[in-house]
Amino acid sequence: MTTNPTIPPHGGTLTDRVLRGSARDEAIARARQAPRVTLNEVGLSDLELIATGVFSPLKGFLGRADYERVVGEARLADGTLWPIPITLAVDEAQARALREGEPVALHAGDGALVGLLELHERYHADPRREAAEVYRTTDAAHPGVARLYGQGPVLLGGDVWLIEPPRRPFPTLHLTPAESRRAFAERGWRSVVGFQTRNPIHRAHEYIQKAALELVDGLFLHPLVGATKDDDLPAEVRVRSYEVLLQGYYPATRTLLAVFPAAMRYAGPREALLHAIARQNYGCTHFIVGRDHAGVGSYYGTYDAQRIFDTLRPGDLAITPLRFEHTFYCRTCASVASSRTCPHDGAHHLTLSGTRVRELLRAGEAPPPEFTRPEVARVLIEALRAA
Ligand code: ADX
Repeated sequence: MTTNPTIPPHGGTLTDRVLRGSARDEAIARARQAPRVTLNEVGLSDLELIATGVFSPLKGFLGRADYERVVGEARLADGTLWPIPITLAVDEAQARALREGEPVALHAGDGALVGLLELHERYHADPRREAAEVYRTTDAAHPGVARLYGQGPVLLGGDVWLIEPPRRPFPTLHLTPAESRRAFAERGWRSVVGFQTRNPIHRAHEYIQKAALELVDGLFLHPLVGATKDDDLPAEVRVRSYEVLLQGYYPATRTLLAVFPAAMRYAGPREALLHAIARQNYGCTHFIVGRDHAGVGSYYGTYDAQRIFDTLRPGDLAITPLRFEHTFYCRTCASVASSRTCPHDGAHHLTLSGTRVRELLRAGEAPPPEFTRPEVARVLIEALRAA
């Protein structure tokens, strides 16, 4: 296999726990005899991300020693940087029905068998501590914290195998890390910048992507399409908006669009690290971290997600964060800019809140073209009209 030679997977080896052929048949037979646990949307996504190497070096859901150290220090028990606990939570009754040292069949909500967990240990989560350390708040109004508080109290630790990938809503845009590494190598890209997003691409996003693209060979546009909070735009609409934007305004030989099938945790700085680690596993050499990356509400400072990279030790992470300040359109400069490049005060800047943009789109009005490309606005207006 040809892979991008320039960046190693996090922890050194790309995890591959996807079963094929007779190993898969044997696992299916073992799963038929095993007690079952039904995964929710986040659990299904985590299973897929572990098994396909996105969460390398993880091979399964965290055990207690890893959990404790990830929560307290953003490291696995062996010291490897790991910012967010990837755990499988169940209720007490479910946990009692399982036996440590034995397999557990993992099922999707529709009953399909999707994987196998080699149950190593059961232990209790510490949701308040996890919230305080990982999310920097214990407020149940935070969407990531609310999800954490809503889950069962017992965590199941152990290695996993993927038997059947969960349904893929964007099959043509789905690349595993092994596949994206191959795609980068085929294009001859030695440096690739990853861009995480859960929003349509406005001119500020486009500006920072293209500023990065002036410096590296390729842009890996990698929107998150897993579970998000209800008021984020549906992934189908966003993907359509990325496609029209790429067609009109990006050089096809320097851009690759693929989906990131992860759940959003809204954990700000800690999640920025997770996003960077995942993109390193996909083969990116650089990763964009802008204003309030992976933030929600006012839980995090504008640049907290950038500062957390400054706390790392040499060797913690191979991917390079590219930090961008808050960018905006300046009428006087007649371009997108930031306080690093624009001398004018706020009165010169075009600023629109997310709420105002949604109001405009719902009324069938496109935001100014300096804010959103008309092609993107059209996709968003049509989607809101149909909703
Ligand atoms: S995120 O939750 O995926 O981070 P979003 O899709 O809004 O949300 O952001 C994608 C990336 O663009 C993040 O790195 C974010 O920090 C950055 N970003 C978003 N808006 C701006 C802006 N106006 N200026 C600079 N960076 C921005």
